Amino acid sequence: MGRILIRRGRVLDASSNRDEKADVLIEDGRIAAVEPSLDTSGAEAIDAGGLWVAPGFVDLHAHLREPGQEYKEDIASGGRAAVAGGFTTLACMANTHPANDDPAVTDYILDRARQDSPARVLPIAAATKGLEGAVMTEMSAILRAGAVAFSDDGKTIMDSGVMRRVLEYSCMVDAPVIVHAEDCTLVGHGVVNEGPVSTRLGLPGNPAVAEAVHVARDLLLAQLTGAHLHVAHVSTAIAVELIRRAREQGIHVTAEVTPHHLTLTDEATLGYDTNAKVAPPLRSAADVRACRKGLAEGVIDAIATDHAPHAVHEKDVEFTAAPSGLIGLETAFAVVLDLVRAGELQPLELMQRMSANPARILRRAGGSLAVGAPADVVVLDPQKEWLYDPAKGFSKSRNSPWAGRTLVGQVKLTLVDGRVVYDVARGVLLP
Ligand code: DOR
Repeated sequence: MGRILIRRGRVLDASSNRDEKADVLIEDGRIAAVEPSLDTSGAEAIDAGGLWVAPGFVDLHAHLREPGQEYKEDIASGGRAAVAGGFTTLACMANTHPANDDPAVTDYILDRARQDSPARVLPIAAATKGLEGAVMTEMSAILRAGAVAFSDDGKTIMDSGVMRRVLEYSCMVDAPVIVHAEDCTLVGHGVVNEGPVSTRLGLPGNPAVAEAVHVARDLLLAQLTGAHLHVAHVSTAIAVELIRRAREQGIHVTAEVTPHHLTLTDEATLGYDTNAKVAPPLRSAADVRACRKGLAEGVIDAIATDHAPHAVHEKDVEFTAAPSGLIGLETAFAVVLDLVRAGELQPLELMQRMSANPARILRRAGGSLAVGAPADVVVLDPQKEWLYDPAKGFSKSRNSPWAGRTLVGQVKLTLVDGRVVYDVARGVLLP
C-alpha cells in the first residue's frame, strides 16, 4: 500500500488534544506521522488547506435493516451512506428481521459487512430474544461471534426484573447495555411530543416523563448491578438532569444524543411531515437547549445518528400510521456543526463527541490520529454550502427532515485503513 500525505489541514484530534495546522502522513494503512511540516516526496499528496482533518466518525447507533428489510437499507447501502457522511465505523442495531439475537445473525452481518461495506460495522446484539423483553439472549455466545454491546433499541424492556438480569449478565461479559428509554404505558398512542404542538395538531402526545421514568429506573438498576448503562437518543431536559446526578454519584452511565434532537423542535411536525416523526419524538425548545448544554458539558458523551431508514410508501401515509425514524448518516456533520457556529462547542470538542467518545463507549479502537493507529480519517469543509437531496444520496431511503435544505459543512474525503473510500467529487470508491 502506498503513502498518502494530507497537507496543511487543521488537524483536530481529541485523543491527543491537538488542534493545529499540520500534515498527516499515512503509510500502509496506518498513521505514520502528524507534524507541522512533512516531506512529501513519494507520497500521494492531498491538499487540505482551509479544511479540517479529523479521525473518522464513529456512529454508535444506526439501523441497517439487513437481514430482512433490504428494501429500506442494507449493509452495502448503509455502509456507503456512512462513509459519505464521514463515518468510518458504525454500530448497527439489532431490530432486524430476524433480530440479531443469535450468533448466526451476528456472523451473517459481519460477513456481509466484510464483503459489502466500505465502513467498519460493529453489530449490536439484542438483549432479549426477538426483542420481546422476556428471555435473555445468550450474551457470551453472541459476543464471541463479534457483537459489541446489547440493546433492544426500538423497544423498551418494560419488565424491571428482566432488565436487572440483563445488566447483571452484562457485567459478567463486560459489555455495555444500550437502552431505548420510553415507558410504553406512558407513551400510549403518542406520536408527537405531548404539549402545545400535539394539541394544535390534534395528535396524541408522547410525554417527556415517559423517557424520564425509564432513565430513572435504569440508572437505579445500573447502580445496583454496577453495569455500564448507555442511554440512547436522550431527548428531554429531565433525562439530562438525571444522568448528570447519576454521574455525580459514580454510576457507570454514558449517553448519546442525535443530530435531530440537538437541532429540531416538535414544531418541525406542525406540517404533519412524517419525516419528522421519530421515537423518542422531537421535543420542546427547552429540551433541545438542555440536550445541547448536556453535550457541551460532557453529561452527554456522544452524538449518534439513529439513522432509521423507511421506504417512501411507508412514510407517505397519515401521521399516526407512519413508522418512526429518519435517516441521518449523510447529514450529521453539517447538522451538528450548528453547535460550533453557535459557539456552544469548539471544533475539537465536536470531533471528540463524534469519534473518540463513541469509540470509548464501545471499547473499540478509533477516534484517534495517534501514530500507529489505523488511518480512519475524515477531511471536512466546515464552510461549504450544499443542497441536500436524499434521492442523490447513498441511503436507499429518503426519509429526512432536511431534504431540500441547503446545509453548511461538507465531508470531502473519507479514508478507512488508509484507503480513500469516499471523495465528494467522485462518490463512494470501492476496492
Ligand atoms: O424512530 C425510531 N426509529 N426510533 C427507534 O428507536 C427505532 C427506529 C427504527 O428502527 O425505525
